[in-house]
Amino acid sequence: MADDSPRPNPLSGPSHGGIADADHDREVPEIDLLSPLTIRGVTLRNRVVMSPMCQYSSEDGLANDWHLVHLGSRAVGGTALILVEATAVTPEGRISPADMGIWGDQHVEPLARIARFVKGQGAVAGIQLAHAGRKASCEPPWKGGASITAAGAGGWSVVGPSPIPFLDGDPVPEPLDEAGIEGIIDAFEAACRRALTAGFEVIEIHAAHGYLLHEFLSPLSNHRDDSYGGSLENRMRLVLGVAERLRGVMPEEYPLFVRISATDWVEGGWDIEQSVVLSQHLNGLGVDLIDVSSGALVPKAQIPVSKGYQVPFARRIKDEAGIMTGAVGLITEPGHANEIITAGNADLAFIGRELLRDPYWAIRAQHDLGGEPSWPVPYGYAVKRRMK
Ligand code: FNR
Repeated sequence: MADDSPRPNPLSGPSHGGIADADHDREVPEIDLLSPLTIRGVTLRNRVVMSPMCQYSSEDGLANDWHLVHLGSRAVGGTALILVEATAVTPEGRISPADMGIWGDQHVEPLARIARFVKGQGAVAGIQLAHAGRKASCEPPWKGGASITAAGAGGWSVVGPSPIPFLDGDPVPEPLDEAGIEGIIDAFEAACRRALTAGFEVIEIHAAHGYLLHEFLSPLSNHRDDSYGGSLENRMRLVLGVAERLRGVMPEEYPLFVRISATDWVEGGWDIEQSVVLSQHLNGLGVDLIDVSSGALVPKAQIPVSKGYQVPFARRIKDEAGIMTGAVGLITEPGHANEIITAGNADLAFIGRELLRDPYWAIRAQHDLGGEPSWPVPYGYAVKRRMK
């Protein structure tokens, strides 16, 4: 499904370890951070992805000028793929009342404006579709992130696989019955159709970070004894059902990604072995890439956070499930991101907070790695190549 299109690599001279092509007596360039990548019919101009990041800045789920500038400026800054933040497929699936949503046709046009602008800058527009499950109905993080329990205060009752709250004292989620689960799959499908109408060419299913789909995967949050709980096969059923449904409605030429938490970082929880099996199944359903994050299912996990700490999970899934992966988490330096790609540890580098600090991170990477900075036309003639 993937078609790597290596561009000449300024870093790969004979001493850099390029692969000799005996028939043509030339260096075959390595794939690096600046190499384009074609997935299905969509070509990314390099391997830098803007990781989805909630802005908690919507009213009634609507995208607005903030989102246009927030996302648009990273497209101007050379990023290849711009992923819109976790966008709720139902109102109850929002983390906070200020989350982005796509549960109604009214959400399409403001999102279409963003997709149009992003594409106009040579980037690809993608969107992450999400349901927050038992972690829904909270205050935005800068107000403390606490659960909003009273409906009168703008909150709502939350759903999940089992009546187990995230934190002691949080509202107990109402377990979804079979009709409720079907309703969730339908909501993901309707959201996907709207996202396609809005012009997005990459869809990412959010099955990570302790939100609804992850809650079904993990034995820590899923204590069901029906066909959606118990065995690994049963716990994977909802995620696979959503992926299958979305692949069925998406055009053949558009990629489908799934973000997972590769491990809960807790004994007896979801782990990398189960993630490999899930990724194999997702691969079989036509999912194109696993975006490999970790954690956030339970509050007390011990996570060894450090530079690129989740990259080994991306490598393992890529090797053992035979599917493309994205690496994410504390990737801040272009050289480090480049190493991840050249070592074959992942196919894409998802950048989060460093892109908040520097919307021109991808152009900086092009500069640092000896590529041609992709300044937008009105800037390019003026700033030339200098970054300082
Ligand atoms: C996030 N993250 C996140 N992840 C996700 O899958 N959907 C989302 O909407 C969000 N929202 C979000 C908001 C903000 C403000 C931050 C900082 C993070 C996680 C993010 O995509 C990424 O995985 C992490 O930030 C780790 O990458 P960095 O920041 O170390 O590059």
